[in-house]
Amino acid sequence: MSRAFIAALSAMALIPFAAVAGDLRSDANAVFKPVTAAAAAKAVKNNELTPAKIELGKELFFDPRISSSQLISCNSCHNLSLGGVDAGSTSIGHGWQKGPRRAPTVLNAVFNAAQFWDGRSEDLKAQAKGPVQAGVEMNNTPSNVEATLNSIPAYVASFQKAFPGDNKPASFDNFAKAIEAFEATLVTPNSRLDKFLAGDEAALDATQKKGLRLFIDKGCSGCHDGVNAGGGNYAQFGAVEKPSAAILPEADKGRFAVTKSPADVFSFRVAPLRNVALRAPYFHTGQVWTLEEAVEVMAKSQLGVQLAPDETTAIVAFLGALTGDQPKVDYPVLPARANATPKPQQELATKHAH
Ligand code: HEC
Ligand code: HEC
Repeated sequence: MSRAFIAALSAMALIPFAAVAGDLRSDANAVFKPVTAAAAAKAVKNNELTPAKIELGKELFFDPRISSSQLISCNSCHNLSLGGVDAGSTSIGHGWQKGPRRAPTVLNAVFNAAQFWDGRSEDLKAQAKGPVQAGVEMNNTPSNVEATLNSIPAYVASFQKAFPGDNKPASFDNFAKAIEAFEATLVTPNSRLDKFLAGDEAALDATQKKGLRLFIDKGCSGCHDGVNAGGGNYAQFGAVEKPSAAILPEADKGRFAVTKSPADVFSFRVAPLRNVALRAPYFHTGQVWTLEEAVEVMAKSQLGVQLAPDETTAIVAFLGALTGDQPKVDYPVLPARANATPKPQQELATKHAH
């Protein structure tokens, strides 16, 4: 072999290497969008975000008196100290009842195209009314929430400030809007992935870059894309091969319950993957306790691929790069109850139809 030929070969070897290194960022930018506070504010529709409304929403999010037992707040199941979820697997609510699904995180939820594992709520203000009324969650009624809020003068004043000109400010609708406004601030910018997207080559280490390459090339990004690396569309869980009945039980038909279309049996919203490393256990059933196993289940069930151990390690390392700055939330001091405030209902639950 001539020297010139060897030189040409090594040059060829170098050029594609450089091209691949450059391509990873552009390929990644074609798939993902960064998390920013501005993008979060833009994602909220028909609800002006003001400091007064956000502050009120924060109080409501932490106030257990919104539940009929006055023990359970939104933060009980969407704990902001735990990545916006509870400890798992599926949530425990009113009267120690176990709900059917895992709590998804409230962090970055504002970026999801629709809310819940099956997408049955169009946005956060529609969503916030659900848990308050669900028998297995907070087991309350809109009228009892309104009675509670209107009985506490400091809350009435905060609602008046947040909803100026409204003739019934402390209403159930406005309660939901204030919570949505607060939730829109629960975003996690500056993840390593976002720094890499913006041009910081050193933000991802070699294993994370390998994982990002695999995430794109194996086809994970075909479903998990956009700002939230998911949350934008629906897919059948078990598209290629059904996972075990513990992970995907027969009884929960997913989005079929919303659309009644046979094509949506076992279809779920593509799970958003921001901060996913913070919130095991995984899937709507919360039955998978490690990210390694969750990645292997996905590769097999969604893509029909068996990953090599080093590939799983690399993808898990990449998923760790989706953890961003966690919101700093000052724990609010809530206004005191008044004489007319309804008392807690703490008798053990009778079975509720819903
Ligand atoms: C008892 C536990 C529990 C309580 C209390 C609770 N949630 Fe949830 N939350 C859940 C579960 C479980 C789901 C998923 C249900 C489903 O998909 O069918 C959920 C879903 C959500 C979602 C959708 C997120 C997504 O990515 O789809 C948001 C947002 C949310 N809850 C906010 C709230 C707010 C606001 C409150 C208080 C008003 C609240 N939750 C109270 C357990 C709870
Ligand atoms: C065909 C679409 C599709 C593909 C391809 C896909 N996923 Fe998923 N992914 C989903 C859906 C849908 C869910 C929610 C499943 C459920 O109902 O629990 C999910 C859930 C997850 C979860 C659990 C998140 C949580 O909060 O519980 C992880 C982790 C994940 N996917 C990673 C991956 C990885 C890594 C790949 C590539 C190996 C991949 N996914 C490929 C659709 C897909």
